[in-house]
Amino acid sequence: MRGKFITLEGGEGVGKSTNLLFIKEYLEAAGKAVVVTREPGGTEVGEEIRNVLLSHRESSLHESAELLLMFAARSQHLQEIIIPALKGGSWVLCDRFTDATYAYQGGGRDISFEKIKILEDFVQQGLKPDCTFLLDAPIEVGMQRASKRGDLDRFESEEQQFFLRVRATYQKLAKLEKGRFHLVNASQELSLVQSEISSILDQLLVK
Ligand code: TMP
Repeated sequence: MRGKFITLEGGEGVGKSTNLLFIKEYLEAAGKAVVVTREPGGTEVGEEIRNVLLSHRESSLHESAELLLMFAARSQHLQEIIIPALKGGSWVLCDRFTDATYAYQGGGRDISFEKIKILEDFVQQGLKPDCTFLLDAPIEVGMQRASKRGDLDRFESEEQQFFLRVRATYQKLAKLEKGRFHLVNASQELSLVQSEISSILDQLLVK
């Protein structure tokens, strides 16, 4: 039996790490084998690409190169980790996936959804998450949390307008695919965030 593919999305500092751990433990308590992974990254090659994508350097990274590197890492990730795990019956819990590309490269960098869709179809061949949690919070909340963590990476150093576009694009995606997306208000108390998440997981566990 194929496992389920769950992704966690949201802007910077919305509490993805805390909730990733919560979801992992919730599913394990329900008897599921869970593979936790992240994008960009998740494989040796992918983590090297992640370094290229997140680090600051003197010459700027062209937006098309950035987009292609996201999908290069994703292709490796799918073949090496995600598809084998799902086929083996494990549930895969991934910190960001292609919705992040639509939000950051599409919304943030203004690359057309049509171009991204071509790469999505090529790399994923129809594979999509079964369930996507979008942790949504005003960008000020997230940026404060992210800057407390220390040095800002290449994305975290973007201007405010960039993050406003990212957030608006995520919200638009959630409206377009209501069956897959679950928008969770991440600025409410953590116990409320997690009770919303667990009720959605309960539905997924009986499907
Ligand atoms: P994070 O794992 O700390 O959230 O950092 C990953 C960064 O990469 C984050 O700023 C969002 C960005 N990103 C994209 O721009 N496009 C993508 O497709 C993915 C997966 C991440």
